[in-house]
Amino acid sequence: MKILVLGSGAREHAIILALRSEQATHDIFVAPGNAGIAQDATVVAIDQLDGGAVTSFANENAIDLVVIGPEAPLVAGVADALRERGIPVFGPGKAAAQLEGSKAFAKRVMDAAAVPTGRAVRAASAADVEAAFDELGAPYVVKADGLAAGKGVIVTSDRAAALAHAAQYLPTGPVLVEEFLSGPEVSLFFLSDGDTVRALSPAQDFKRAYDGDEGPNTGGMGAYSPLPWLAEQFGSEREFVDLVTEQVALPVIRQLDAEGTPFIGLLYAGLILTEQGVRVIEFNARFGDPETQVVLPRLQTALSELLLAAASGTLEDQPDPVFADDVAITVVLASEGYPEAPQTGRQISGLSDAAGVEGVRIVHAATAGPDAPGGDLVATGGRVLNVVSLGEDFATARARAYDAIDRIGLDGSHFRRDIAARVGG
Ligand code: AMP
Ligand code: GLY
Repeated sequence: MKILVLGSGAREHAIILALRSEQATHDIFVAPGNAGIAQDATVVAIDQLDGGAVTSFANENAIDLVVIGPEAPLVAGVADALRERGIPVFGPGKAAAQLEGSKAFAKRVMDAAAVPTGRAVRAASAADVEAAFDELGAPYVVKADGLAAGKGVIVTSDRAAALAHAAQYLPTGPVLVEEFLSGPEVSLFFLSDGDTVRALSPAQDFKRAYDGDEGPNTGGMGAYSPLPWLAEQFGSEREFVDLVTEQVALPVIRQLDAEGTPFIGLLYAGLILTEQGVRVIEFNARFGDPETQVVLPRLQTALSELLLAAASGTLEDQPDPVFADDVAITVVLASEGYPEAPQTGRQISGLSDAAGVEGVRIVHAATAGPDAPGGDLVATGGRVLNVVSLGEDFATARARAYDAIDRIGLDGSHFRRDIAARVGG
C-alpha cells in the first residue's frame, strides 16, 4: 500500500513503525516527519496544513491511504479536501474534529447522545465563573474552549488560582467550569468509519512532569498498556471495552452521523472511572500521544487494513483487533526546561546503544539531522524521544526501558523514573 502520514511526533513515528512491522511491505511517505522518522519513511516537503497541497501530492503519487496524526490538520479541514477528491483518509473532517477542537461542542454532543460526563457550566465573565464555582464547589475545574495543547485546563482547590486561570482565557471567549471527577484515568481509542467502531486496548498516560505526579501538566511523560487493574475491576478488558463502546463511543458516533458530520478516524475517549461509573473527561479526534506508542506495538492485527477499512466505510467487515499479552511501557525524554521553556538545539548521544537493548524501540518526537555528516542528532522540541519497551511483565518492560534511557545523553534532559512503577487504578 502507498501511505502518506501527516505529522512529526512520536505518535506518527509509532504509527509508521506499526505499519512497517506488518507482513506486507508498504511505501510510506511522511510530512513533515523528523530525523528519526526519516529512517523509516520518505520525508516529503508538503505543508501538512494545506489541504490542496496534500491532495495534489496524494493524487500525483497514487496514495492509497492518508493517515492524519495531529489535530491541527484535522481542524484545518485537510481530511475534507482529501475526501472531496475521493482519497481514502483516516481522520475526521473539520466539523467532526470540533469534538476535540471545542470543549463546548463536545459537551453539546455528549448531552444530545446521553453520554456520561461531568456537569459543566459555560461562563463568559468573571461573575459567571464565580457563580459556577459556587454551584459546583471545590476542587475547581476550568477549561479553555479551543485547542490549548493540554495547557487550557486547571484543576485546583485554590479558588484565586482557578479564577486567574479563567481570566487568562475569558478575553478570547467563554470558558467551561466543570464538576470535579475523582478516580483513575483511562485512555481508550476507537477506530470509526462513521458508523461502526472497533476498540483498541486501553492505556494510561502520565501527565505531570515529575515523579509522583508532581509538577506542571505536560503533553505526557510516559504511558503503559494494558491495564491489568482495569480488567480485574470489570471482570475482563473486553467487558470494560464493551461497556464504553455502548455507553460512549457508539452514541457519539451515531449522534455525529445524524448531524451530517460523520466521524471517520480515531475517537479518543479520555475517561475517569468514578465511583458512580465511567465518565468522559475529554474527546480527542486523533491518536493519543504517548499512549499510541504503547498500544500499537501490542497490536497483532495489520494496522493498515484497519485504518483503510475505517477510511473506506468497511469496518464492519473487520474482526476485532487482536493484542499481544506482552505489556508495553514508554518513557519520554524531555529537554531541560520542559514544559515551561524547553532548551533546544542540543546534541543527543547513545541512541544506537539504547536501541540495542532487548525489547526496546526508540521513537522520535522532536529530532533533527546532525549539523555535519556522521554527527549526533539534535533535539528540536520539549519532548524529544520516547523509549518504548515490551516485556512479559511490567518489571521486565521497566528494566529494559530504563536501561535504554540511561544510555542516552542529552544535556539537562529529564524523564520520570516511576512510569508503570505502581500499576494500579
Ligand atoms: P483535558 O484537557 O480535558 O483532558 O484535561 C486535562 C486533565 O485535567 C485530565 O487528563 C484530567 O487529569 C484533568 N481533568 C480534566 N477534567 C477534569 C474533571 N472534570 N475532574 C477532574 N480532573 C479533570
Ligand atoms: N495523552 C493525551 C493526549 O494525547 O491528548
